[in-house]
Amino acid sequence: MGEFAAARVAPGMRLGLGTGRTASAFLDALEPRVRQGLEVSAVCTSEATERRARSMGITILPDTGEGLDLDVDGADEVTPGLDLIKGAGGAMVREKIVAERSRRFWVVADSTKKVGRLGERAALPVEVLRFDWQGTQRRIERLCRLKTRLRGEREPFISDNGNLVLDADLASCSTPWRELARMLAEVPGVVGHGLFLGLATAAVISDGSAVEVLGDLEETR
Ligand code: A5P
Repeated sequence: MGEFAAARVAPGMRLGLGTGRTASAFLDALEPRVRQGLEVSAVCTSEATERRARSMGITILPDTGEGLDLDVDGADEVTPGLDLIKGAGGAMVREKIVAERSRRFWVVADSTKKVGRLGERAALPVEVLRFDWQGTQRRIERLCRLKTRLRGEREPFISDNGNLVLDADLASCSTPWRELARMLAEVPGVVGHGLFLGLATAAVISDGSAVEVLGDLEETR
């Protein structure tokens, strides 16, 4: 799916570049075209992606300005209606900013990421400020069971924004997604979360041999 999306990038496009293995495979496929002279610029959703894009010769934009043409990013879960869980890599706050400010947002994913309902396989990441994070955790636990994300055995995972990530078990939560998205956003201390509802305009899904497109690649918003 990286090749499929990379082949559709046009000269001069202002891109959003996602984070994770699939977003990185998209960059692998785009790299030969950039090296051969394709000029594109991008806002990157993580420091790792920015290092990679810079090393390829992509012009890095400081912000989304008047908006981006196309954002390409992976996902942890994709429903048939293009609702997503994102953030297994901890980059969902920047990823959502960039997705929302792009006219097209294509999700690239392998077919194991397809689900009927969100929360079937993946935890829902919630990024929280370090200040009184246990208080924030207790507030969110009124809605869902949570685990603090760690890096290694004991060290807390720290996002590129300097915050902690709590992983919520959606199966333990009876609130419908849309309401949950709103309720989480209203908890003081929550910086953002990995529910991406109604943001993706298309998904490019591969099972290793065939590519399936959900939604409309031409759709813009
Ligand atoms: C990064 O925080 C995530 O939102 C990723 O885009 C998502 O976890 C998919 O990653 P992979 O492509 O590595 O599975």
